[in-house]
Amino acid sequence: MSELPAELRTALGTLLEGRGRGELAQRARHISQQYRANTPSARAVAGSSDAVAYALSRMPATFAATVAVLSELAARAPGFRAGTLLDAGSGPGTAAWAASEVFADLGAVTLLDGNPAFLELAGVLGDGHAVLGRAERRAGDITKFGLAGRRFDLVTCAYALTELGDAELDAATDRLWAHCGGALAIIEPGRPRDYRRLMLVRERLFAAGARIVAPCPHQRPCPLATPDWCHFSVRLPRSREHMRMKGATLPYEDEKFSYLVVARDTVAATPAHGRIIGPPEASKFAVTLPTCGLEGVGKVLISKRDPEAFRRARRLDWGDPL
Ligand SMILES: C[S@@+](CC[C@H](N)C(=O)[O-])C[C@H]1O[C@@H](n2cnc3c(N)ncnc32)[C@H](O)[C@@H]1O
Repeated sequence: MSELPAELRTALGTLLEGRGRGELAQRARHISQQYRANTPSARAVAGSSDAVAYALSRMPATFAATVAVLSELAARAPGFRAGTLLDAGSGPGTAAWAASEVFADLGAVTLLDGNPAFLELAGVLGDGHAVLGRAERRAGDITKFGLAGRRFDLVTCAYALTELGDAELDAATDRLWAHCGGALAIIEPGRPRDYRRLMLVRERLFAAGARIVAPCPHQRPCPLATPDWCHFSVRLPRSREHMRMKGATLPYEDEKFSYLVVARDTVAATPAHGRIIGPPEASKFAVTLPTCGLEGVGKVLISKRDPEAFRRARRLDWGDPL
């Protein structure tokens, strides 16, 4: 289970001091409702208290999903080095924190966001961190920005495209790719709407010369047909404070997300031959894995008659490569 780094937990804990828990919980509920209704963040998160409520309620989950995605990039492209990072739609800097967890050699970070309350909070949370404490914070619009032709080894865009209108997706995709010198990781909520839009982004990136890194094993059109959609799940622990804030009863949460990692052809990456695209079903006699591979989507049944394969299959999980 992926947990926030201790340094970030401490910084978030400090934010709680002197604030009414009830009010924060109410703000967090309100923000969640707004996000579910696809209200743009500028309206959903109107000031510093809202930004704090967002960070306390959502950062653990968006961090865990982003760590899962960036870990997949690191696994598929072992030689990849993330010296410079642009986190577009950074919010409080969640994806940059995730990148610093996955890539030990992360050097310079640029955070770009349209909401000044988030950029300010990113500065507070990163204060004292060896890399994030030096992050450049830029106000900008992901559909229009241009950072003087700069290209970054890694560009992340987590849970931000979801806030754009359909007509803005192409422009944002082009901006992200134009600033990517190595790999681009896009993470979105694991909903059918966001998956469908991500498939449009995928096509546009391929047309611009991007190569697939993950999750897909190929660059052909996605073989999934409605009502199916490609999404994954990551389990993370809930702190007591978080349980109280969300009115939750379980000590963990499951965050659903969709994602896409592409790269320029200068990055040596090997996409998985296949991927598990749903929860495996295990009985005493067999494991059934829903998979996507070069031949399309299907189910792979691994029987106990092959004890070694069965033992290995029991350890596989939703999202794992085959
Ligand atoms: C749901 S938050 C995600 C924040 C962070 N990336 C995370 O994963 O926790 C979406 C972020 O995207 C930013 N955003 C949305 N539309 C934007 C735009 N057109 N230009 C710049 N930032 C935008 C919002 O201000 C907000 O910080």
